Formats: sequence, C-alpha cells, structure tokens
Amino acid sequence: MTTTLFEPITVRGMEVRNRLWVPPMCQYTVEKRDGIPTPWHLVHYAGMARGGAGAIIVESTGVVPEGRISPNDLGLWNREQQEAFRPVVEAVHAAGARLGIQLQHAGRKASTYREWGVARPGGSVPEGDGGWQTFGPSATSFPGLAEPEALDEAGIRGIVSAFAGAARRAVDAGFDFVQVHGAHGYLVHQFLSPLSNARDDRYGGSLENRARLLLEIVDAIRAELGDAVPVMVRLSASEWVDGGFDVEEACTVVKWLGEHGADMVDISSGGNVARAPIPVGPGYQVPLATAVKHSTGMPTSAVGMIEHPWQAEQIVATGLADAVMVGRAFLRDPSFALRAARALGAEVDYIPEPYARAYRQHQQLL
Ligand SMILES: Cc1cc2nc3c(=O)[nH]c(=O)nc-3n(C[C@H](O)[C@H](O)[C@H](O)COP(=O)(O)O)c2cc1C
Repeated sequence: MTTTLFEPITVRGMEVRNRLWVPPMCQYTVEKRDGIPTPWHLVHYAGMARGGAGAIIVESTGVVPEGRISPNDLGLWNREQQEAFRPVVEAVHAAGARLGIQLQHAGRKASTYREWGVARPGGSVPEGDGGWQTFGPSATSFPGLAEPEALDEAGIRGIVSAFAGAARRAVDAGFDFVQVHGAHGYLVHQFLSPLSNARDDRYGGSLENRARLLLEIVDAIRAELGDAVPVMVRLSASEWVDGGFDVEEACTVVKWLGEHGADMVDISSGGNVARAPIPVGPGYQVPLATAVKHSTGMPTSAVGMIEHPWQAEQIVATGLADAVMVGRAFLRDPSFALRAARALGAEVDYIPEPYARAYRQHQQLL
C-alpha cells in the first residue's frame, strides 16, 4: 500500500527515507561525567536506525559543561567528544538513517540530578557533588531548583559562539544536521518566555528582544556551517498558562527563523512552568504544529503521544505536519518503524538483511 509516512522527505538537500523520526531523549548514561558518548549510545541509536527510523536526533547535548541538564549528559565542547561520536554516526549511517544532534544549554534548569539512583531525583546538584552555578536570563529560579545568575552580554556572546562551535564539531563528526533546543524551559525558551525573562536590555521585553538569543544562535550556526547543512529548531509553542510564550508568538518567531536560515521546526510544548495544566493525550501537540506549519510554510514536525502507525500516517497524509517524531514508543520497541511499515502495508527496502528472516517467516506478528 502507498503511505505518506514512508515516503522520503528532503530538507535542504538532505533526503530522509521516511517521515517517522526519533526525537531527542536524554539517556543520562555518561557515568564519567565527561560528556563523552559510550557504548550505550552506540547501541541505542544504531538500534533505532536498524529499526527503520528515518532520522534520529541525539539527545540534549551540552554546548558547554554548564549547559548540561545533568552531569551525566552528553557534551560537544571538545575534540575528544567529537571523535567519540564518530562511531555512533557511522553505525546509524550504515543502517540507512540520518542522524542529527540536539544542541543544548539548559540555563537555570542545568545541574540537576538524573531521575534514578539518587536521593533527590531532578533536584539541583550542589557544587560539592559535581554540580555548578547555573545561568539564566534573570536571577529567578525554576521552582525547586537553585537560583541562577543572570547572564551579562559577554556571557550571552560566549554561549552563542559555543553553539556554533558545537555545530562545527557535530558536522566534523559526520552528523547530517543539528537541532537547537529552544523548548522545554531550557535557556533559549527561558529567554523567549516573558514568564522567565525579566530583562530590560535588548534581550528582554518585546518578542523581538526575547527572540534575539535564538536568532543569534541560528545566525552563528549558519555562518559556521555554510549553506549545505540543515539547521532545525525545537520550540515549545505553548506554556499552557496565560501570559506565556504562545503559539501566536511561536508563529512569528518561526517566520523569523526561516529568514535567518533555519530549515525545519519541531513543535513541542511546556517545560518552563512548574505544574502547568498540560492537556496530555493522544496527539495533543499536533494542533500547535499544524498552526505553525500552516501560518509560516516552514517544514514542521509534530511530536507527543503519537504512538500508533495509523495515527502517524494520518498526521502526515492530511498535511497536519511534514514528519512525526515518536519518542517513548521507540524506547519500548527500537523497531517501531519497521513494525509500523508492516502494519500499514508499506513496502520498505531497508529491513536489515540479517533480520530479514524474522520478517519473512512471521507474517502474523505485527
Ligand atoms: C526519557 C526521555 C528523555 C527525553 N529527553 C529529551 C531531550 O533530551 N530533549 C528534548 O527536547 N526532549 C526530550 N524528551 C521529550 C521527547 O523528545 C518527546 O518530546 C516526548 O517524549 C513526547 O513524545 P512521545 O510521547 O512520543 O514520547 C525526553 C523524553 C523522554 C521520555
């Protein structure tokens, strides 16, 4: 059967074999706390590539040490990290998928404990236990976390060039594209949102000012990478409370992003307001992606509780989004895409040869 989900899509000259992609998902498995990928990462990402994903975005990766969400996050601020990513990229490419990486500065939500094996999951890691002073647009903490220092202009300039440096290292390691993390209450989102940005300089106040950091980051990355490499951005297009960065502002920012050389956006929501009343349910963020896509013309992916093959197919076939990101369902089953292809009756030519018998001889299993 012909599907849209398993049709290729091209972004700035990069052809992707289908529209069923994997969003960034922190693994928090860098036990040495040096930001260097481990065999876990190779197995994890290569598994989903063998499982038929079109493109995969490597989890939140700090552009500077203090940009990591936790001490166990990946980083891309030095050459050793860059070289250690190379086998991960090669394994994903050998399985026919595209690989991007999410470049991150976590701002006031940095230096937190991972979610397991500690007394205070998600709480701030003190400096005595390998944590660090955090930074934000303003000296206002996220509820329950340590107070950040407000960034000065020199600090902002350093972060912008760190994003460009990390993007360079990503491409040198073989990544196909980069994604700037502008969502979920991390630094870029903290600047975008009037709820966390109380600055009175040219980085605060009007939407133009609040979006300045993001646009400077995209400009710096584009200048560093030239014209060939796709640059994507993830945004939270709603904070689900009044007075936050909302879908209308997101549409304006996405238009600007297009003018600044970004190629695609992924539309998520939330993360900057503790205990916001988020209406979580199947496909709950898709209308936000559709609003952005239709109002800006920017290639857009949808994400969030898209768990069933027909649901994913319907989203792309009816033009609600250009691609879908499927997260937790891929963690449960790294072969989610090959299973979806079978469920939809789509013929794909990228079942790994050593696995082919599993697909030929067990037709009844979906
Ligand atoms: C274990 C886990 C780690 C995550 N880490 C990140 C991350 O590093 N960056 C990010 O932007 N979103 C992160 N997310 C959010 C996912 O990318 C995705 O938006 C979310 O899981 C909703 O999609 P789903 O319902 O298909 O899982 C994470 C989600 C999970 C479950």
